[in-house]
Amino acid sequence: MSIPISDRVQSFGEYPFAEVQRRVRALREKGIQAIDFGIGDPSSPTPDLIREKAQEAIETHRRAGYPGFIGSMDFREAVARWIDNRFGVTVDPETEVTSSIGSKEMVFNAHFGFVNPGDVVVFPTPGYPPYDRGTAFSGAEAFRYPVLRGGPCVPDLAAIPEDVLSRTKMLWVTSPHSPTGITATLPQLQELADGCRERGILLLCDEAYSEIYFDARPPSALQTGKSGVLSVFSLSKRSAMTGYRVGYAVGDPEAIRILRLVKMSIDSGTPLFIQEAAIAALSDEEHVRGFREEYREKRDILADAFVSIGLPDCRPEAALYLWQQAPPGCSGIDFARSLLHEDIAVVATPGEWLSQPTSTGENPGSGHVRMAFVPTLWDTKKAAERIKTHRELILRA
Ligand SMILES: Cc1ncc(COP(=O)(O)O)c(C=O)c1O
Repeated sequence: MSIPISDRVQSFGEYPFAEVQRRVRALREKGIQAIDFGIGDPSSPTPDLIREKAQEAIETHRRAGYPGFIGSMDFREAVARWIDNRFGVTVDPETEVTSSIGSKEMVFNAHFGFVNPGDVVVFPTPGYPPYDRGTAFSGAEAFRYPVLRGGPCVPDLAAIPEDVLSRTKMLWVTSPHSPTGITATLPQLQELADGCRERGILLLCDEAYSEIYFDARPPSALQTGKSGVLSVFSLSKRSAMTGYRVGYAVGDPEAIRILRLVKMSIDSGTPLFIQEAAIAALSDEEHVRGFREEYREKRDILADAFVSIGLPDCRPEAALYLWQQAPPGCSGIDFARSLLHEDIAVVATPGEWLSQPTSTGENPGSGHVRMAFVPTLWDTKKAAERIKTHRELILRA
């Protein structure tokens, strides 16, 4: 029989990374082991203290039981302590913190809580795909603002047409921004939060990369005041816990109440033994420092390789990616294709796959590739050597 498919799902096509994975497989079938910088999934093992806590907690919770969709009080208290230590903001674990099954779930589902068909959601492009998908699934309209090299990662509200702004209910900022690594300053966040508050727009700040920084520590939108602000965090990148699926949202108590209503209808929360592992992760900063150093080293090896073949120095101040500018006149797709040449066999994601045209018709992702600092140090050095050795294959793309 022919299986029905909804118009919405049909309109999306494939998740772009499925295409990356297919290309890696094709090379493998030819006996070539590609070095995969395609997806931001850390290759380092989750630190011992976290794995050990998870194992112990499985025994503590012999009767598994539904965990509850808002997170245990212990978990929410650990989050509140961490937010206070890191950002100097006091939050009430009872009403201002809620758990999520990784932050992707929260980012996508949040739209169901705050918008109706006809409302507008504003978000960055290039940007994390669930902003777009969550907007579409909730029947709202998307307005994309570009994030460009050298520019801020926050939008200028004055540059958004008034008929769009007057219908806007949610506005997403990613800081540090993925994939550019651009980080919002506190004055930028303050100005934006104040502007959003004036217009009754909920400001959502995706802070999944808040702990992966190479210069100053990124501020949180929570530092602008909690009213009208929701910050979304994840342990995926901070603690190499992508497979554990644990994150949390923090902020305005009314927004948290609404998020919980949405989640009550959708899921039954993060497993308790995972929450305990997350508490252990939040209590330790040493492993996070170690990850930062490792990412910094990989960032420099890769960025230096591109600089040595005459491309611009694109090393980011934060996040997990090199957002590398292509040779002049070369698209991101062609640049990625040249890196996938058998002699180089390096997987990068074309910027065009991560970005969509804005209202001006320009695609801010074009002419770039994204490379995640996730292969081992050894493989990163190998990739850098291949890039340097096969300079002409890249520059003539
Ligand atoms: C900007 C951004 N936000 C959120 C996430 C979600 O991470 P997770 O669902 O693993 O917490 C990602 C993942 O890559 C991301 O890039």
